[in-house]
Amino acid sequence: MEKHLQHPVFKVLADTAAKHDIEAYVIGGYVRDIFLQRPSKDIDIVVLGNGIEFAELVAAQLKVKVAVFKNFGTAMLKFQDLEIEFVGARKESYRSDSRKPIVENGTIKDDQLRRDFTINALAISLNKDSYGVLVDPFNGTEDLQNKLMRTPLDPEVTFSDDPLRMMRAIRFASQLGFSIDEQALEAISQQKARISIVSKERITDELNKIILSPLPSVGFKYLFDTGLLHLIFPQMANLYGVEIINGKGHKDNFYHTLQVLDNICEATSDLWLRWAAILHDIAKPATKRFEEGHGWTFHGHEDKGARMVPQIFAQLKLPLNEKMKYVQKLVQLHLRPIVLAQEVVTDSAVRRLLFDAGEDIESLMILCNADVTTKNEYKVKKYRNNFELVKQKLKDVEERDKIRNWQPPISGNDIMTTFGLGAGKEVGLIKNAIREAILEGEITNSYEEAMEFMLRKANELGLSPVNN
Ligand code: CTP
Repeated sequence: MEKHLQHPVFKVLADTAAKHDIEAYVIGGYVRDIFLQRPSKDIDIVVLGNGIEFAELVAAQLKVKVAVFKNFGTAMLKFQDLEIEFVGARKESYRSDSRKPIVENGTIKDDQLRRDFTINALAISLNKDSYGVLVDPFNGTEDLQNKLMRTPLDPEVTFSDDPLRMMRAIRFASQLGFSIDEQALEAISQQKARISIVSKERITDELNKIILSPLPSVGFKYLFDTGLLHLIFPQMANLYGVEIINGKGHKDNFYHTLQVLDNICEATSDLWLRWAAILHDIAKPATKRFEEGHGWTFHGHEDKGARMVPQIFAQLKLPLNEKMKYVQKLVQLHLRPIVLAQEVVTDSAVRRLLFDAGEDIESLMILCNADVTTKNEYKVKKYRNNFELVKQKLKDVEERDKIRNWQPPISGNDIMTTFGLGAGKEVGLIKNAIREAILEGEITNSYEEAMEFMLRKANELGLSPVNN
């Protein structure tokens, strides 16, 4: 493994260890990532003894500052583009929430045994007589080869020590395309309720990492099958299932949503657009009806879904800012391009969509494309072709009418001064009517025609202009 310790910092670490007769190892994610060929800038060092003292000795050699976290028994320093963290070998578990001082009297094997997964428990020696030797007492390299998430200890103990690890198991599986060992899965199913002691922020951090992984359905299937999803995000688990009445079923919205999510990942790595895919049908269970002679309907699921977005964001401690608004808007509009693609596309329908989607029209088209999950090749082709037509039409109309970011030529203020009105219902009425008339193509998008239309409309309401 010596060839993987090329960075000069490893020599400084080894020399300092030798000089002070301290045993030190590189451990955890850095070593794992060597095998996965994912270069990493975060190095974890474990020493037999006091991690903070060793960090201070190394920092003096490197002439850099060291940050000490006494409560955690850890220290961190930055050197060039590296971030190096130090800890003493423990007999106790690494937990994400511990504020208790840590007992540092373990051997290297004790320390490895208390880590979360065998692939995260690999160590490389920095010691003189064994420099560069891989220390792998729990067959982590074998698990890497077999693409398997396994715990060094009995999984019940590993997960009970830190329940966040249940999420981490699923997150790594999703990021790396690994499977989770049967016994570990069983332990997650058994202990899932303990996730309640983990903070929402940490859970959502892991959830977002699952969403950002190449094929998020891997992680979500594990979350669902273990029952964790029902606890951390019940609205999504609720999408599962097919009801049959009079021999008619509807599609399983959970698996449909996962398919849409995987599809969208081919087109975007944006977290929030991926969230829109997750949430696009979230209100289907709540709006589901069976209509005689017609079958299953989900009327209004886009409106109700959009209304559910803020509540779900709050519950998951996702940001309640413009990202949330963006997701909400996409959920609200997600059916619109599909409807357009099924009908003869009129200019006014396209203008209206452009006006409503504004800057987010490209995102919306990506979502809609991903939403086509029928297995029928013919239908897929037909939809995709229609989408191309809609896209072309969007382009033509935008070039001609410049609707994106468009504001009607007459503002609320213009209306108030013309008719001597204060802010109120009439101003809104007139303003909307002008906007609608332009979007519908009744009048052109010009000041003159809008002015004329405004006067007519105001007249109907019994208003006449005041002389200024
Ligand atoms: N660790 C653990 N239990 C946890 C968190 C971390 O045993 N709940 C150990 C693992 O050995 C892990 C190391 O601490 O490799 C560093 O953790 P962290 O930096 O969170 O994760 P990485 O494994 O480096 O992976 P990533 O950066 O993708 O989170």
